[in-house]
Amino acid sequence: MTTSTLQQNLRWRYAVKKFDDQKVVSENDLETILDAGNLTASSFGLQPYRFVVVKDQSLQEKLVPVSWNQNQVAEASHVIVIAIRTNLDHDYMSSYVAMMESQRDMPKGSLDPYLDMILGTVGKMDDEMIGAWATKQAYIALGSMLAEAADLRIDSCPMEGFLPDQYDQILGLADHQLRSTLVLPIGYRAEDDKHQHYKKVRKPLDEMVVRVGS
Ligand SMILES: Cc1cc2nc3c(=O)[nH]c(=O)nc-3n(C[C@H](O)[C@H](O)[C@H](O)COP(=O)(O)O)c2cc1C
Repeated sequence: MTTSTLQQNLRWRYAVKKFDDQKVVSENDLETILDAGNLTASSFGLQPYRFVVVKDQSLQEKLVPVSWNQNQVAEASHVIVIAIRTNLDHDYMSSYVAMMESQRDMPKGSLDPYLDMILGTVGKMDDEMIGAWATKQAYIALGSMLAEAADLRIDSCPMEGFLPDQYDQILGLADHQLRSTLVLPIGYRAEDDKHQHYKKVRKPLDEMVVRVGS
């Protein structure tokens, strides 16, 4: 196996249980992490999610009781909430395709066949299916941001231990046509977070990988 800086940083990363509440992630580093989320692959490129950044002590404290009392959301420098769009309708798809035409300097309407293809698949899903499909995409963005944070030696804790309806209410997400799906507090590990000393537990690679064929 070749070693890479990313691989070393992924070994350094762990799900932080206690952040140092005095340390703040710089705006530049925050943007790099968000940009990694934005650069993530998504089905048809539709990016059916948004990244909600919470940097407000009183709001962060309100999130603790609706996060299974996990204090990371209060002690972290920032909390990134990955929220799926609730308005993945015809207008959303056509404005995405129009953006694609514009960013690639293509004539208006030239991607109509692509739009038809998207509408032919996503457009046929019911609300529940669209929600499940958008949620899958959100997890990929979570993975990119986790990796980017680690690569910057910024700590994080991926979290699905929270109450989405309560988050939506506290953060006013319905007004943005968003529904919270995943939570990613970022910051710097506290010196006394004992979890940083636990050995990383993973299956051996040869047990994880199934090679088929010669
Ligand atoms: C989708 C997802 C949800 C998770 N939810 C929580 C959570 O709510 N609270 C928490 O402390 N850790 C949470 N974790 C962290 C996992 O427990 C952790 O990644 C796993 O035990 C492996 O440990 P490591 O990441 O420290 O290597 C979550 C991880 C993922 C990927």
